[in-house]
Amino acid sequence: MAGARVIHGQKQRGRVLSVASECVPLIKTGGLADVVGALPEALAKAGWEMRVLLPAYRSLRAGAANWPVVWEEHDLFGGTGRVLAGEVAGLSLLLLDAPHLYDRDGGPYSNATGDHPDNAIRFAALSWVAARIAREGLDGWKPDILHAHDWQAGFAPAYLAYQGAGGVKSVITVHNIAFQGWAPASMLGTLRLPAEAFHPGALEYYGGLSSLKAGLVTADWVTTVSPTYAAELMRPEFGMGLQGVIASRAAQVSGILNGVDTSVWSPEAEPVPYSVTSLAGKAKARADLCAEFGLEVPGPLAIVVSRLTDQKGIDLLPAVIPDFVLGGGGLLVLGSGDPALEGAMRGLAAQFPGRVAVRIGYDEALSHRFFSGADAVLVPSRFEPCGLTQMYGLRYGTLPVVASVGGLADTVIGASPATLMAGVATGLQFHPVDALAFGQALSQLLTLHADTTTWTRLQANAMRHPVGWETSAKAYADLYERLIA
Ligand code: ADP
Ligand code: GLC
Repeated sequence: MAGARVIHGQKQRGRVLSVASECVPLIKTGGLADVVGALPEALAKAGWEMRVLLPAYRSLRAGAANWPVVWEEHDLFGGTGRVLAGEVAGLSLLLLDAPHLYDRDGGPYSNATGDHPDNAIRFAALSWVAARIAREGLDGWKPDILHAHDWQAGFAPAYLAYQGAGGVKSVITVHNIAFQGWAPASMLGTLRLPAEAFHPGALEYYGGLSSLKAGLVTADWVTTVSPTYAAELMRPEFGMGLQGVIASRAAQVSGILNGVDTSVWSPEAEPVPYSVTSLAGKAKARADLCAEFGLEVPGPLAIVVSRLTDQKGIDLLPAVIPDFVLGGGGLLVLGSGDPALEGAMRGLAAQFPGRVAVRIGYDEALSHRFFSGADAVLVPSRFEPCGLTQMYGLRYGTLPVVASVGGLADTVIGASPATLMAGVATGLQFHPVDALAFGQALSQLLTLHADTTTWTRLQANAMRHPVGWETSAKAYADLYERLIA
């Protein structure tokens, strides 16, 4: 147990160095950023002090120009790396400024021409620095736990395992097993990994290297972002080649559901506010949203707010939306991604003017108007480690219609004769993830929406369902405590 340090008048249970490639409000491509940005505050309430180490991407450098340099390595994989310390939005941040790796155009992983070819080195460097700070401490600040997120931080537990952990325990969280951080075996030395660890029980992965596998085999504990995904990951349909590795660690794997930031996602705080006891504002938000997009929808107005990729089952929409529209429904899509799927969404809008509209792009403010004004949110994912938008839907009384996989299965209580009779349903679940089952769920949605009493009951159930971070933060805190006990 960490000694009796005291922060903000509260006894401190321990210190955590969190390592990731994304963090709200600084840099985001998906839910990973939301989670990494929300955990520190949630854990602070449980007595854990967390610092977040991120790469100083070009977009972040200017804001950190005056931050003190707290750590330096002259040859960090081909150039100088310096760590700058500062605070943003209450987060205690460490930015790894290594211009040869991160000061370039485009997003965290790619630019207009594709993935950065040196991604393996870029994120190995982040992991290397994380491991060194964890092992050696930083100006007297030494963590008890190194918490690595996804493949980008996967080598951090490996560097601790192979170069000495200095008493620090490590946790790796899998947010999405589809991204595995592959590199050729010839890079072993360049990545500062020991040749003797290149065997199937350790670093070797189908003849090459995977930073995610490296983290999975070397971390003291493995978590993923929902209990169902934790179980799914041990099966070939979901494990994407790593099912055996995860299964071999089954005794040290747990699924901890994500929460959502309820101060950001709150219908009471929207420009047109409403609450579970007063839904008039939601009707106004719906009318405004329909006017904004030129829609007239007699039945339920459904939304999709998503990356437009295969994972998200977006390709199923063209097969199911025509019947939904015929039955009175409407659809609004906000997202970007695969050009073919963007085209398919535009095609639906062209096919059903006044009922379907599409906004290609990323727009946080618009997403809030979508959740406020819509009746339902569709999440037909083929796999979904946790998923956040179904939880926004619950909080906003915008009933989630979800594929029964991963975190979607764990957060939504699907309407069935039994759950309706018990009065506990919060949305709709369907399985298998195909157009037939999805279409049946949408037809059930039309029926439920037409029954105002049942619909209002479902909305109230949804809005009362807890989606904040309290329970999950306690689960992480308990895990950290067990590891350092
Ligand atoms: P994933 O991380 O797999 O993309 P999640 O549901 O965990 O899925 O998180 C996605 C996050 O990104 C949510 O906060 C969602 O609201 C947001 N998001 C996705 N696409 C858009 C978009 N086009 N505009 C605004 N927010 C978006
Ligand atoms: C990944 C997953 C998503 C999850 C998010 C945050 O992006 O695809 O399901 O909610 O990480 O953990």
